[in-house]
Amino acid sequence: MSHRATVSAPANIAIVKYWGAKDAERVVPYNPSISMTLEVCRSTTTVEPVPADERADGDRVWVVADGARTPAPAAFAERVHAHLDVLRRRTGRSERFRVATSNSFPAAAGLASSASGFAALACAVVRALEIPAETAGDLSVLARLSGSGSAARSVLGGYVEWPGDPVGDCAARQLAPAGHWDLRDVIALVQSGDKEVSSLEGHRRAPTSPYFGRRLELLPGRLDGVRRAIEERDAQALGRLLEQDAIDLHVIAMTSEPPIFYWRPATLAVLEAVRALNRELRQAGAGAWWTMDAGANVHVLCTAEAEEAVAERLASMPGVHGVIRDRVGTGPRDEDADLLALPVAGEAARGDR
Ligand code: DP6
Repeated sequence: MSHRATVSAPANIAIVKYWGAKDAERVVPYNPSISMTLEVCRSTTTVEPVPADERADGDRVWVVADGARTPAPAAFAERVHAHLDVLRRRTGRSERFRVATSNSFPAAAGLASSASGFAALACAVVRALEIPAETAGDLSVLARLSGSGSAARSVLGGYVEWPGDPVGDCAARQLAPAGHWDLRDVIALVQSGDKEVSSLEGHRRAPTSPYFGRRLELLPGRLDGVRRAIEERDAQALGRLLEQDAIDLHVIAMTSEPPIFYWRPATLAVLEAVRALNRELRQAGAGAWWTMDAGANVHVLCTAEAEEAVAERLASMPGVHGVIRDRVGTGPRDEDADLLALPVAGEAARGDR
């Protein structure tokens, strides 16, 4: 059996980053990573298996914006197609699909949408094909095999660890549910459009940095510290480790061969502002700490009572062109929306569906 299904899946922000792929093909990382699943930043994807007599057309992919579908750009459609091939192989199915997908955050925001996008695609395909959970394989593995390793973590809510163990299937697991600790993520957008160097390329270059091996030596202690900080809801400890690991990622990127500079001047200005704010907030027992993924935007993790002050401060800064207020979330969910029912931009009159 199969039917049309829509699933939304969230982005996540890494506390200990995945940086460096031991096996790029199988998406096996050098190190375990830990993230917080978000709630507001998410991708919604509708998937429909096409009838057998239409399969010769192959997979068709649309992106949704302003209430209409447009054919996906070639590079993106190619990644979706490759992921669908992997999903077909792993689930032993041969269907071709119609796929429509949208993001809750603006495409030009410079936020990575691969994790949420490929987690949503994997979950929607499993739903559409009505694959029982026990034969679906691990959703985390299905999401990761898109090539976006961080998607492995987006299929779970709360605080998530992706072990990065090359033995076995390397599936992510939940460390604590969202209800365990209400942390917020206020995102300062300082960059629009795509980053210049993809994460994929960053993972490839990472081992060329002289600091790569040193980080791997430090990580077991850092990972233990992060697990403990989450368990004990110790924001000060978590914040310190969060910033250390962000610095390490960017030091490695900047010292890779050839080097990668993701920061922009506004990135540094935001870091300064967050440090100052943190000193003020500490007096009141609250706090705010920064991290960045492979890009210039700054994620400020903070306690619930600090969110308002953080958002206000960031929004007032020159160079910050937008602020998104996000929080720890519960993971993917089924949606009623049907993105394949939306008109195709410019072709609405033809009723192309
Ligand atoms: C810096 O290979 O998962 O965000 O496919 O672009 O989402 P995308 O990247 P991926 O690498 C993620 C790198 C990171 C750190 C992290 O999320 O762990």
